Amino acid sequence: MPISLNPEPRMTRHLVTHTRLFEHDPLVIVDVGARWGFNQEWKVFGDGLRVFCFEADKEECERLNASSSANVKYLPYALGGASGEAVLYHTRLSASTGLYRTNWQYFSRLLNRDNAIVEKEETVRLTTLAEALRLAGVPSIDFLKLDVEGAELDVIRGAGEYVDSPQLLGVLSEFRFHPEINGSPPFWQLDAHLQKLGCRLFDMHFSHQSRRVLPYGGLADYRLPNGERFFAYTVHGQIMDGDVLYFRDLLVPANSSIRAQAKPMQLLKMACLMELYELSDCAAEVIMEHRERLSSVVDCDRLLDLLTPPLGGQRLPYDQYMRAYFEPRGEVVKAAKQASTAAEGRGQGVIHSMEPLRCSPTSELLEELKKHSFYHCIDLGDGRETEGWAVARPVQQLVLRQLDRLSFEGKRVLDVGCRDGLFSFYAEKRNAAEVIAIDNSLSSGAVEVLIPYFRSRVRMHEMNLLDLTPDRFGRFDIINFPGVLYHLRYPFQALKILRDLLTPNGILVLETAILRIHEGTPLLYCPAPKESPYEKTSVTFFNPRGLRDTLASFGYRVEGCDYLYGINAFRLPYTNLRSRLVASGNQLQRWTPSLVRLLLQRYVIDRGVFVCRIDPTLIDPELEDYWNRIYEKVTYD
Ligand SMILES: C[S@@+](CC[C@H](N)C(=O)[O-])C[C@H]1O[C@@H](n2cnc3c(N)ncnc32)[C@H](O)[C@@H]1O
Repeated sequence: MPISLNPEPRMTRHLVTHTRLFEHDPLVIVDVGARWGFNQEWKVFGDGLRVFCFEADKEECERLNASSSANVKYLPYALGGASGEAVLYHTRLSASTGLYRTNWQYFSRLLNRDNAIVEKEETVRLTTLAEALRLAGVPSIDFLKLDVEGAELDVIRGAGEYVDSPQLLGVLSEFRFHPEINGSPPFWQLDAHLQKLGCRLFDMHFSHQSRRVLPYGGLADYRLPNGERFFAYTVHGQIMDGDVLYFRDLLVPANSSIRAQAKPMQLLKMACLMELYELSDCAAEVIMEHRERLSSVVDCDRLLDLLTPPLGGQRLPYDQYMRAYFEPRGEVVKAAKQASTAAEGRGQGVIHSMEPLRCSPTSELLEELKKHSFYHCIDLGDGRETEGWAVARPVQQLVLRQLDRLSFEGKRVLDVGCRDGLFSFYAEKRNAAEVIAIDNSLSSGAVEVLIPYFRSRVRMHEMNLLDLTPDRFGRFDIINFPGVLYHLRYPFQALKILRDLLTPNGILVLETAILRIHEGTPLLYCPAPKESPYEKTSVTFFNPRGLRDTLASFGYRVEGCDYLYGINAFRLPYTNLRSRLVASGNQLQRWTPSLVRLLLQRYVIDRGVFVCRIDPTLIDPELEDYWNRIYEKVTYD
């Protein structure tokens, strides 16, 4: 898993494009181990950036230099702790090439052992980073990135004045946990060295690698440039390696003299880098603590506003965010705590983190709920509910009936399009190990009131499902996906993204709007938004066959299916007139869709829930390559 990145560094973008702050004093970054190009996240600095990249592979440097802009240079040096000769081990997977030979006896136990296969040994001349930078005429650097297969600490040791200098703001480095991997210094040595330089750990991501005897599912479908599959990180297994991010923490005593002399530009560069790596809180602290020094150069209030994250899906200025963060939510949590203490006092014992409180929600809580609008009707523990949409209840019950049949115990669950969290809280209550919920428009009521009130561990994120990757949250045993597919403009892409997020035996619970026409033919009805049978965001209506065939082509085997209305008006579990009419409409529409359309001026829509399990045998590997990758052997019939 990579270090967290901020997809929207608004303050940095503002400083680069509006104030043009870095035009005359660019951010200088050194990237050691730059195969395939430097880190994309720095591109936000535009022409306010200078990157000096080091890569031992000369040809790779030539290739990269040929297409890089003037402010980026790839320098073909093998860097080490001291100058002299050394052996460079070229591995089958070029990215694993390095100065430390992997210990086959240890590493062959691991699923990804092929990474250690050495194809060539080359004697190379080592240079230190300090020598190389002096030769390139670089006086000082702001940030250092290292990814050199174990030689990271060696490179730092050879960086002399460049890392001792107070100018250095931070370091991003790869590391290994175990000395047995390739004999390189493990994490604790790297950490001790960086601590001595005044750097402190700000973020860490580490990766798991399975034993070969029983490998877990992979985190991604890893491929070599020629399309061949290779094995790498897995969802579980022993932790092996990772990445760490260090910054000079100016508020610790070890850095007090550096802090006293820090120039505004240095402080702003540090704040920008922190924002880039999802540390906007630390960036805000840098600005607050040095407000006086910075005010002559920038508008600190504006920067704080730009750093402020959304609250309950809303963007607030910094001051309002702080008030809203500490005041209303504090009240809710306080109310929840008071209520739970009262419940425990009555001898009800420990309340499960999700169990609604077994006493009336306080009047403060009810007041708080009134400030938000809800879609889901969620039980507050005393029979009272959030005021959601009653009409959506039957569909939710259709989904819940299927969920009731699944085991959630110890499972990782993803709730896609979670709205107010009805299904997320349900999964938590059923003892899921972890529940991640996403929605492209987060429910403020869920985030600010329900989660604190329930003391829930559900983690809700505002994001589009199209941005989900296994790197972001890992893989899931169960993905709940109700009420969203028909809203999507890219339904096929969504089904692929979710398939790639499931563990090998994972389950997708898909609920969507269904158009029951021409049931022998696989169809997708995609009306123009203004002609939608629902409202303008609903533009994707499969017929049952169309959905089943699509699911199968992605490797989903449908294990269970149920419709809300169905086609038999007399066998419905619901006996109300409306349900009977819709079922009759469904039936008629299967045979004469145009007549129904003519009579009603629109189609009749049913709802269907499909419980699907991943079955790799359904996937045609040739088609997978054809649709997703480069395909060499084309045989069109
Ligand atoms: C009809 S509601 C369904 C809510 C809940 N899943 C249920 O079935 O009760 C659809 C939800 O999907 C969300 N949504 C729509 N498109 C999305 C997308 N591309 N990524 C994430 N969420 C999306 C909407 O914001 C909304 O909250």
